[in-house]
Amino acid sequence: METTGDSHAEATIRLGQTDVRCRPLGLGTWSWGDRLVWGYGRDYDEGEVQGAFQASHAAGVTLFDTAEMYGNGQSERLLGRFIREAPGPPGPGTHDSREGGLEGTAVSAGTPLVATKFFPFPWRLRGADLIKALRGSLKRLGLERVDLYQIHWPMPLLTVEARVDALAGAVAAGLTRAVGVSNYNAADLRRAHYALARRGIPLASNQVHYSLAYRRPERDGVLQACRDLGVTLIAYSPLGMGVLTGKYGPDRPLSGMRGRRFGKQRLTELRPLLQALPQIGAAHGGASPSQVALNWLLCKETVPIPGAKNARQAQQNAGALGWRLTAEEVATLDRLSA
Ligand SMILES: NC(=O)c1ccc[n+]([C@@H]2O[C@H](COP(=O)([O-])OP(=O)(O)OC[C@H]3O[C@@H](n4cnc5c(N)ncnc54)[C@H](OP(=O)(O)O)[C@@H]3O)[C@@H](O)[C@H]2O)c1
Repeated sequence: METTGDSHAEATIRLGQTDVRCRPLGLGTWSWGDRLVWGYGRDYDEGEVQGAFQASHAAGVTLFDTAEMYGNGQSERLLGRFIREAPGPPGPGTHDSREGGLEGTAVSAGTPLVATKFFPFPWRLRGADLIKALRGSLKRLGLERVDLYQIHWPMPLLTVEARVDALAGAVAAGLTRAVGVSNYNAADLRRAHYALARRGIPLASNQVHYSLAYRRPERDGVLQACRDLGVTLIAYSPLGMGVLTGKYGPDRPLSGMRGRRFGKQRLTELRPLLQALPQIGAAHGGASPSQVALNWLLCKETVPIPGAKNARQAQQNAGALGWRLTAEEVATLDRLSA
């Protein structure tokens, strides 16, 4: 089953209170160029990840998440090239027409939007360090600006206010349309939001680990803080690094770092949930376990960014758009993953 809903029929949403609009499911590109965790260059190659980009783009997925850290810059290089090589609708609004002011920039519904991230190494303490890192990302991407620039992790050596001050500088320099954070707890998220608001800049998003296999944002107040503040929760590892795709289980364990995070005991605990995913999918035209798991995140009004290594995975994941689980199905999944 490669598609379920009509992904093109899914309305776009705003990232936080910004004017950046995207479909509420993106594509994560950590595995593009990463050999250590994901096996890039060994189990899959550049041609396959270009296929993932093309399938997502063709299915109407607009948000592409990368980071300077992914594959040591390789993910950004690949994403930038794939965007340049992608067929775009003619005229204003294609990815070739990003020039112009930040206000009212023409961006058509299908334009790929790029989100990347600053890594707060302990020696990067000045605002100028963030701008320099962002310019490095832009060079690798081949873009004049990105759509979302995020702080990858909080870093205790600097106050939240000092860090988001640097983000505001990136907006003022015209290098990003919007700014976000990642892995911020509820208290720091609120501080970041208010510090930016004082400068008239909305905090677009907080990107955190959230899935049916990891529901901590519901317990630690992060999901509620995002709702209170109008900040979009971008859900990373939304398929539990592959666990929720139906491929893995106690008898078919993951290997490497993924195997350490989701060991045999955890997979055994998850068994009732993993069995329910295809059953619930059957009521939606045979939706795959991945599509059901991603749809659950859409029902929580978050933006999942599943990773995909090839066209088949990307196309299937995009099929989570254009339909919704019923309230009863969401409640069943809540119970089974509690
Ligand atoms: N901000 C942060 O700190 C942070 C941290 C982690 C991730 N992220 C972001 O979130 C994105 C997604 O997270 P993730 O890559 O960790 O995990 P994920 O999206 O939960 O899982 C992705 C993996 O699942 C498998 N898969 C995906 N779709 C599939 C399908 N339809 N059928 C079968 N298998 C499928 C693939 O691996 P196999 O084929 O090998 O099983 C794929 O690489 C990342 O790419 C990155 O952009 C951000």
